[in-house]
Amino acid sequence: MLTTDPGTPTDRNLAMELVRVTEGAAMSAARFMGRDDKIAADRAAVESMRRSLSYVDMSGVVKIGEGEKDQAPMLYIGEEVGNGNPPLVDVAVDPIDGTRLVARGLPGGIATVALADRDSLLQTHCFYMEKLVVGPRAKGAIDLRQPPAENLRRIAEAESRHVEDLTVVVLDRPRHERLLAEIRNTGARVMLITDGDVAAGIMAALPERTGIDVLMGIGGATEAVLTSCAVRCIEGDMQCRLMPRDQEEAEMVRREGFDPDHVFPAEELSGSENIFFAATGITDGEMLGGVRFAGERVETHSVVMRSYSGTIRWIDAVHDLSKLRARSRD
Ligand code: FBP
Repeated sequence: MLTTDPGTPTDRNLAMELVRVTEGAAMSAARFMGRDDKIAADRAAVESMRRSLSYVDMSGVVKIGEGEKDQAPMLYIGEEVGNGNPPLVDVAVDPIDGTRLVARGLPGGIATVALADRDSLLQTHCFYMEKLVVGPRAKGAIDLRQPPAENLRRIAEAESRHVEDLTVVVLDRPRHERLLAEIRNTGARVMLITDGDVAAGIMAALPERTGIDVLMGIGGATEAVLTSCAVRCIEGDMQCRLMPRDQEEAEMVRREGFDPDHVFPAEELSGSENIFFAATGITDGEMLGGVRFAGERVETHSVVMRSYSGTIRWIDAVHDLSKLRARSRD
């Protein structure tokens, strides 16, 4: 519900403000493309994000971030962001998803941020989650408890297509050997990515635009929550399961109050009806073009979404660096 109650997001489209945050982070990180320095690229994106988030009219708390406070200068969990005005929101940030990609100059690095009503984003210290993402036409057809072949059969049926026509994106990791064998057995096509499963998840939720139909496999839990924000705006479908790496992490998950076998629908990862999501390409990718520099002109490519209206905007921007510099001296 849209409301002017100061405790909840107003009818402002905060995503339009968020895109300035991801554009800035992408432009800062893009200077480090291919320089084989993950830390410098990440630091540039974080510093830019922290600065520009402080101008956004909101009282935000980072719920999904880069770690705990002692790891500063990262945007840490619990950090307050925004200018302190209403609305009260949870913030999820991944200043660079695909840090290795940016450091090596490979395609697919993005800067991304999401906002939702306060206390609506799932918080866990578990590092990995198993994920299954599809677009709106396959909504309601997936079940992570079922084997991959059965899910692909259901997705194909829901979309009136053949399993062989589906393209499944999977992170290229040894842990996915068995999953890949099972997918390949069905005849479905596979696209392997080296990193960046937020962009891959969004692509799977937008099959008509991207040609990618499904995301399967295990990736970061932070990235899962961010992806769920976009999936909810798109009205695709997503299910996840916590994947503790060892006994100790499994016990930590239980202490957090979670059942490691529980299957989370997107609505439990991001429970709000007011979700705002923005992402900007850093390096050229299948979904978003990367940052291009041309003297004082810098070009960026972003996507901006809002769950309440379901609006998805693809924004190409040209920034004038001389004006941005002059403004920051004011
Ligand atoms: P970072 O940019 O934060 O390093 O994440 C990149 C990424 O590929 C994510 O997109 C993905 O969820 C995660 O790493 C997978 O983790 P791992 O590399 O340990 O398999």
